[in-house]
Amino acid sequence: MKDHTTFINHIRPRSIPSRALSVFYTFCLGGLSFLAFLVLGITGLLLMFHYQLGESTSFGSILTISSVIPYGGVIRNLHYWAGQLMVVTVNLHMLRVVWTHSYKPPKQLNWLVGIALLMLVLFLDFTGYLLIGSQESGAAATVAVNILGLIPGIGAGLAQSIFGEPSALSGSTLVVYVWHCVVLPMILLLLQLYHFWRIRRDGGVRPL
Ligand code: HEM
Repeated sequence: MKDHTTFINHIRPRSIPSRALSVFYTFCLGGLSFLAFLVLGITGLLLMFHYQLGESTSFGSILTISSVIPYGGVIRNLHYWAGQLMVVTVNLHMLRVVWTHSYKPPKQLNWLVGIALLMLVLFLDFTGYLLIGSQESGAAATVAVNILGLIPGIGAGLAQSIFGEPSALSGSTLVVYVWHCVVLPMILLLLQLYHFWRIRRDGGVRPL
């Protein structure tokens, strides 16, 4: 029976290559990305208790969270910095994968899964920025909507389904809120679990 044929052997393999234990091979950048994701999930959920979506309420509720709600400032900062950290660690993780040629067969499918993860992380970061509801968020939303709108035929419809109809002064819409708080995190979670499963299926993290 091969090691990876049962779930127990999958999560607790009888043997792993010694090189896989070396911190200096992976720098644990994938693991750090997942840690940031967990922090984001917990702090994001806590923020949802006090965040009030709305063109004229989003920014004010963020200020209230930061300065009135007990520990709100800490939670908001943890959420913000975990988000920035994740963008940095995911990019460095991708560089490490390129450096060690780990995108080559048999790991090519997990490389593609990784590309999807990268896109999701960047889009999550961007939608989070829009939810602040500041003038900068409004400007960013306007730029994004205008760029998408340039795609012939489907551009305007695509922009509306991804961003709703953001005002140039706020940027936070219900559509963005649902993407950021529900849809993207769920897809990201499922895809990460698949990513981890594939690592083991492809023979584990070891020099090719
Ligand atoms: C949410 C983002 C991501 C998470 C949480 C994540 C997590 C991980 C973890 C924990 C590992 C084990 C080794 C390590 O820690 O480096 C790994 C390996 C791997 N990742 Fe990611 N990853 C992410 C994004 C990406 C991206 C953007 C790419 C490339 C486009 C990628 C491609 C790979 C590949 C090919 C492997 C196997 C590496 C090997 O066997 O040496 N991952 N990932």
